[in-house]
Amino acid sequence: MDALGKIYTTTTIVTMNVGGKLNGISIAWITRVSITPPMLAISIGKTRYSHELLNKTDRFGVCIMKPNAEELVSYFGSKSGRNVDKFAGLNYTLSDSGIPIVPDTLAYIECIIKSKADAGDHTIFIGEVVLQKTFDEGKPLIYGEHRMLG
Ligand SMILES: Cc1cc2nc3c(=O)[nH]c(=O)nc-3n(C[C@H](O)[C@H](O)[C@H](O)COP(=O)(O)O)c2cc1C
Repeated sequence: MDALGKIYTTTTIVTMNVGGKLNGISIAWITRVSITPPMLAISIGKTRYSHELLNKTDRFGVCIMKPNAEELVSYFGSKSGRNVDKFAGLNYTLSDSGIPIVPDTLAYIECIIKSKADAGDHTIFIGEVVLQKTFDEGKPLIYGEHRMLG
């Protein structure tokens, strides 16, 4: 195993609602970056449809996934919202701001985008936390060794 594979993170689905268009993207490269105010950084590939959408909005949701959510994470992480409505047939809810929350979400965090940083083939979007909800006290689905460890 290469050393980068030894970075363990939390598996999430980052969601957005841009003028009524819902999309979600599986994200493992996410971390908290500020205590006051609480802030998160997510790293989004420049070719992703979500990258295009996040450049048109100031708000995103972070669904921290339960360990049994591997199949849903694989779906959101293999299809593009350019070609597929990933929410079709899915039993999701909407936050008060209209951001989708997917099934099997352990905890939900909503952020307002405060800044962006270029990072090779990705862009880091830094968001300030404006809402957080815990639905279940269990542990999240962990990503490490280049795969989900459900
Ligand atoms: C477990 C997992 C973790 C992923 N982590 C990231 C990530 O941190 N950043 C990223 O840009 N793509 C990541 N991806 C890939 C995207 O989820 C994938 O390219 C997705 O289909 C893009 O969807 P979109 O085109 O609708 O935005 C991950 C995929 C999986 C399955």
